[in-house]
Amino acid sequence: MRATHLFTASCLGATALAQTGVTSPLAQVCNVSLPKVLCIEKYAAVMPYHFFRATSNGTSTPTFGSTSVPNDKSFALVNQSDFLVFDRERGLDLLGPNPSYEFVFEVSKAIHEGPVYVPAQNKLYLSQLAPPPGYLPQLVVDLNASPPTLSEYFSNPPVYAPNGGTFHNGLIYWAAAGGNNSIGGTEQRSGIRTLDPITNMSTTLLNNYFGYYFNTVDDLFVHPTTGDVWFTDPQYSWFSALTDTAPQFESATYRFTPSTGAVNLVEDTLLQPNGIAISPDLCTIYISDSGAASGPIDGRLGSLGASFNATGKRTIYAFDLLGNGTYIGNKRSVYLAQDRVPDGLKVAANGYIVTATGFGVDVLDAVGTLLVRVQTNYTVQNFAWTGEDLKTLWLVGEGGISKVEWGLKGQTLK
Ligand SMILES: *[C@@H]1O[C@H](CO)[C@@H](O)[C@H](O)[C@H]1NC(C)=O
Ligand SMILES: *[C@@H]1O[C@H](CO)[C@@H](O)[C@H](O)[C@H]1NC(C)=O
Ligand SMILES: *[C@@H]1O[C@H](CO)[C@@H](O)[C@H](O)[C@H]1NC(C)=O
Ligand SMILES: *[C@@H]1O[C@H](CO)[C@@H](O)[C@H](O)[C@H]1NC(C)=O
Ligand SMILES: *[C@@H]1O[C@H](CO)[C@@H](O)[C@H](O)[C@H]1NC(C)=O
Ligand SMILES: *[C@@H]1O[C@H](CO)[C@@H](O)[C@H](O)[C@H]1NC(C)=O
Ligand SMILES: *[C@@H]1O[C@H](CO)[C@@H](O)[C@H](O)[C@H]1NC(C)=O
Ligand SMILES: *[C@@H]1O[C@H](CO)[C@@H](O)[C@H](O)[C@H]1NC(C)=O
Repeated sequence: MRATHLFTASCLGATALAQTGVTSPLAQVCNVSLPKVLCIEKYAAVMPYHFFRATSNGTSTPTFGSTSVPNDKSFALVNQSDFLVFDRERGLDLLGPNPSYEFVFEVSKAIHEGPVYVPAQNKLYLSQLAPPPGYLPQLVVDLNASPPTLSEYFSNPPVYAPNGGTFHNGLIYWAAAGGNNSIGGTEQRSGIRTLDPITNMSTTLLNNYFGYYFNTVDDLFVHPTTGDVWFTDPQYSWFSALTDTAPQFESATYRFTPSTGAVNLVEDTLLQPNGIAISPDLCTIYISDSGAASGPIDGRLGSLGASFNATGKRTIYAFDLLGNGTYIGNKRSVYLAQDRVPDGLKVAANGYIVTATGFGVDVLDAVGTLLVRVQTNYTVQNFAWTGEDLKTLWLVGEGGISKVEWGLKGQTLK
């Protein structure tokens, strides 16, 4: 459907030129039975003039829907929709016949992270970082209860500031991001811990790099056949005062072999490597660089936090996993987040990339084409699939925990 919009000749004079190429309307409900699912025609590749989307100043989050497009009334539907479908065929297919979005728990404005689903318990473990400073418990959503319940959870010993997590071999693996010498009466440093959800016992697998503290072990996955733990180490815990020690080395991504204790550097070109995930065929590793959100390393612990610079890195990179699972290469940029930075990152069972970006979650194909955006009214940090068929996605972030039911299945973690 292509239409030509003519400027009103009486206002602009006889020399006014027609604008070409505009798709009209830009947006329409894909299927009247699903009023919250909006199809964006041809990615809104040509908008009618004059349109404008504000740049984030660090505190505001101008969403796609906040773009001013006064010459296309249909664009107002963007704000009222839960799902934006950019690729009609693949998008509607992944959403399935009855997609839904539900805001479930109002939580504090703190960052909420690392949701990990434990299938045997049907519980979702997650973390809350400061504020308040020093917040120590994790949280757990009991999905057996109807409606689900949310409660605080302490492991033994408690794990301070998990920023990412995964499930492997019956254990939760936490990317523990914080560190100081008086956490619940003991010392903890950023690293990797496991939690046995049956006994509630936690164990430290890694807490240093040749004596140096890691900066912010942020996110991780476990390679299902080698058992190696791949993890990112940006610098956010310094900016947000979750550690008392300024970064002692650069941001980087590593591969840790629990059986030998060896830590191999695998990537050190990203500014703030953040989410990390592996494709189901074990051939591709994705890492996001959220360098657009960064801060100074100048001794002022946490006083400035991380600020947002729209022209900084907001990119997901793909790498080939090479050398029989030992290193990565063929770095390529696959996605520039259109909303804030790509934070949590995971790969669905069919190979689609899913990432939390600003007020929502984006679903991309394996080469980074945006297929669907789930819209939320709060900043989503991370997400996890739950349920017997792994077709429910729980989103956690600043101020909210919400739930998507759709057809896109998560990978079975083992
Ligand atoms: C950022 O923009 C928002 C919305 O326009 C405004 O309320 C806020 O004051 C701005 N903040 C700064 C630091 O300029
Ligand atoms: C959509 O919501 C944003 C705030 O989130 C607002 O700035 C914008 O004006 C809204 N757009 C329309 C067309 O109502
Ligand atoms: C619209 O959605 C309903 C509910 O999922 C489905 O039964 C129907 O086949 C859809 N219609 C079209 C034209 O796809
Ligand atoms: C150390 O961490 C604990 C968390 O239990 C917190 O209460 C305390 O303020 C932190 N101290 C420093 C110096 O960061
Ligand atoms: C583990 O913690 C949960 C939640 O606090 C509790 O219900 C359960 O009894 C604990 N398990 C053990 C073995 O202590
Ligand atoms: C590849 O890695 C697997 C698992 O770590 C190991 O068993 C196998 O011997 C390795 N193969 C080669 C050719 O090194
Ligand atoms: C934002 O990032 C760009 C690109 O890295 C840089 O040139 C610019 O100076 C930064 N702006 C601020 C205010 O830091
Ligand atoms: C988001 O929406 C839910 C209900 O739909 C509401 O309870 C919650 O307060 C909203 N949060 C924000 C930050 O607007």
